[in-house]
Amino acid sequence: SRRVIIDTDTAGDDSMAILMAALADSIDVEALTIVAGNVEFDYEVENAKYTLEVADATDIPVYEGARKPLVKDHEHADQVHGEGGLGGNLFPETGIPSADQHGANAIVERVRESPGEITLVCIGPLTNIALALRLEPNLNELVDEVWVMGGAVNTLGNDTPSAEFNFWVDPEAASVVVDELDVTLVDWDLSLRQGRFDAEMLAEIEAAETKYADFFTTISERAREFAREQYGEVSTTQPDSLAMACVLEPELITESNEYYVDVDEREGMTRGYSLVDERGVTDNEPNANIVETIDEEVFETMFLDMMQYGNP
Ligand code: BDR
Ligand code: CA
Repeated sequence: SRRVIIDTDTAGDDSMAILMAALADSIDVEALTIVAGNVEFDYEVENAKYTLEVADATDIPVYEGARKPLVKDHEHADQVHGEGGLGGNLFPETGIPSADQHGANAIVERVRESPGEITLVCIGPLTNIALALRLEPNLNELVDEVWVMGGAVNTLGNDTPSAEFNFWVDPEAASVVVDELDVTLVDWDLSLRQGRFDAEMLAEIEAAETKYADFFTTISERAREFAREQYGEVSTTQPDSLAMACVLEPELITESNEYYVDVDEREGMTRGYSLVDERGVTDNEPNANIVETIDEEVFETMFLDMMQYGNP
């Protein structure tokens, strides 16, 4: 089965993506590496460990990575996820120790040991991955695939008016990663257009009454409230789970295309914006594969199976 490292700013939907990967038979999660993003760094570390406990997968090592973006100050989003990042619910400490190495070093060491075998699934800001690239310039040749949840393809952001959160938190890192690695992007807009769970789906999940469903319902409460305020409806997006589902189940993707992508690093209103040359008007070679459409039913079935049977 495939081997993955998940780079995550664990809160909310990151937890669900980790759960999905840990429960799936078709992949082996080698490690989690934590990056500054959604909430205060130490909360993220604890959230990741708690999620592994829910998944009965505490043998997966948790490496602490970058506590700050490369250049910017760390701006988190606990207005979205609630204090602590799991819906404002602070769970009991797990007592699980972190692995004794920086996340970026762990990535480099593991891909060097197994060239071409490890897939990186990046569901937070890209600071650790950019650092790993600077430690190991041949990272692109050493990894199998790189999947990134990030950016908002030529559309509105979810953090600033123009930027998606993961790219906004560390635009310099996002720029380096998109430029230097062959990435597949699962962007914010896709998760809004097609990955959104409506009230009916949420009720179905709740009715499953498993420990996974209870976990989901508890930790997504604040995010659902946020969606109600922002979009005027009962729903929740699951960008990180959607990215993970794409890794697990290629049949989920109904269309993807290669484009030239550039991340705006300039100060100002468009900092962190992901510009995609969809019409091929620049002469730049495509540098990213972008997932454009998915089969929503496949995604919802995977998620429901995970909630109901603990098997996505
Ligand atoms: C991304 O930002 C975070 O809040 C989510 O976990 C996801 O990775 C969506 O923009
Ligand atoms: Ca995330």
